[in-house]
This record gives sequence, structure tokens and C-alpha cells, in this order.
Amino acid sequence: MKDKNENGTVSTESEVSVEKKDEQPKGNSREKIRASKGDVLIEVRELCKSFGDHKVLRGISTEITKGEVVAIIGPSGCGKSTFLRSLNLLEVPDSGVVLFEGTDITDKSVDINKMREKMGMVFQQFNLFPNLTIKKNIMLAPVKLGKMTKEQASARADELLKRIGLSDKADAYPDSLSGGQKQRVAIIRALAMNPDVMLFDEPTSALDPEMVGEVLSLMKELADTGMTMVIVTHEMGFAREVADRVFFINEGVIAEENTPEEFFANPVNPRLKDFLSKVL
Ligand SMILES: Nc1ncnc2c1ncn2[C@@H]1O[C@H](COP(=O)(O)OP(=O)(O)OP(=O)(O)O)[C@@H](O)[C@H]1O
Ligand SMILES: [Mg+2]
Repeated sequence: MKDKNENGTVSTESEVSVEKKDEQPKGNSREKIRASKGDVLIEVRELCKSFGDHKVLRGISTEITKGEVVAIIGPSGCGKSTFLRSLNLLEVPDSGVVLFEGTDITDKSVDINKMREKMGMVFQQFNLFPNLTIKKNIMLAPVKLGKMTKEQASARADELLKRIGLSDKADAYPDSLSGGQKQRVAIIRALAMNPDVMLFDEPTSALDPEMVGEVLSLMKELADTGMTMVIVTHEMGFAREVADRVFFINEGVIAEENTPEEFFANPVNPRLKDFLSKVL
């Protein structure tokens, strides 16, 4: 059973953890950052999206709070990417709204590019610019969008490359990197903009198995810094370990959501039970 608060909305694990903070200190840095809870970062109301006659999203509503890590799972074609891409309007919903930091980004008068600067996105296929060096890939957006001077962006790129142990690749081109290295660069490239949320669409699905771990550990580190993250993933172990909440999307809605402990141990929805029995 989900808890309802006095507003009638579903309590998130972050609220619960904040309430329990004093009695159950977990020593997790994210717990402390989420103590400023109530800060809803993204609110989605009745989001609908069809492609032709195919109704993919049929009224998705949820709230994601600052510092929360949400994992999204579900069968292929259920609409996970469509939902994620709706959060920064890469997909334009047919109806419903997406509020980011209180602003309805579906409102046509909103400068969506400005909003997207605060939302980092990482794709399955890395999407690095092949004709630019690694360092230039990282510096490009902050300089082009006027967020940093070249010198500032260069210092930030150096710092981020150091953080992931790839300083020696600064002047290399993406083609000379392994898949795992490319994806880690794609992640820090998004981080260079100092986003308020990071959206990941199956960031490890295109990787050789031996490279999955290095990308997941970078994501885990990021989660531990308090970054708000929404992650579409097939990595159930990762979702269980890192997420605060897990969503199961089925038939165009969030058919089940829960803390990872409950979600994986006591699934309720029959389709989720069936799905988990196949993937776990
Ligand atoms: N641009 C598009 N035009 C037409 N149909 C689309 C488009 N994008 C997605 N779809 C369809 O919408 C449905 C949901 O797609 P989506 O990519 O969101 O699924 P998904 O859950 O991310 O699947 P996967 O796990 O395979 O990535 C699919 O049936 C897909 O074929
Ligand atoms: Mg997808």
C-alpha cells in the first residue's frame, strides 16, 4: 500500500526517509541532500502521447523530487524512452503538462532550449561529435551557450576528465575510445553544463558486458553526490541498489512504483511479476 500525505498525493521514499532521518541515519550523502524535500523538481500531469493510432503514453502523472534517483523499467516498446524524452520535450506530448522547477515547459512561450540546459541527457549511443576531440566535446555546449568562457570550460573539462581517469584522452577523438570510455565521456559532457537533473536512456545497453560496470559505477558516484537522476535501464541489480524509486511502465501508464526493496521483493501487478520473472 502506498502512503498518502495530507494533500492526497503519494508519498515518495524520499519523504519517508526524511521523516525517518533522525531515527535511522543511513550515512548516505544523498539522504542529507534530500532533506530539503518538498522540492519537487519535475512534475508530470496526465501526460499523453500517440504516434498515429498508437497510444503510447495514456496519462502519466508523477513527481520527482530533488536528489531523487528514479529507475524506469518495462518491456520493449512500452514507452520508456517516449516518457523520458517527454521530460525535456524531445517528444512533444499531445496533452498533459511537464513542470520543471515549477515552469510548464509544454507552454509554447517557454524557451525550451534554456530549460534543456538544466537537463543533461545521456543516450544509448553516446552521441559524441566524432570530429571533435574529447575535450572539445566537453567544452562545446558550455562555451557555445555562453555559460562559460573558453578558459572556464577548459578547466571544467580537465577537472571532469580527471574525475573519470581519462585525462590522457583529452586530445584523442571519440573513435579511439572504448564504448565504456565513450559513455563516461558522454556523461561528463552532460555534467559540464551543471544540470539540475540527468536523464539516462539505457546508457549501458550498447556496451560490451565488461564495460557496463565502469559506466554504472560513475552513475552511482553521481547519485551519491545528490544528483537528481531519471534512468531507463535493464540493469535490475543497479536499479535495486541505486534507485530511490522504481517505475514499471505498462500499457501507457506507470503500472507500479515503489521503493526498490518492495518493488523487486513484492511486486503486485501481474504484468510486472511476469516481467520480473523473465529478467531476474
Ligand atoms: N517517432 C516515432 N514514430 C512512430 N512510432 C514511435 C516513435 N517513437 C516511438 N514509437 C513507438 O512507440 C512505442 C514506444 O516506444 P519507446 O521507444 O518509447 O519504447 P521503449 O519502452 O523505450 O522500448 P525499448 O525498450 O525497446 O527502448 C513503440 O511501439 C515505438 O515503436
Ligand atoms: Mg527505449
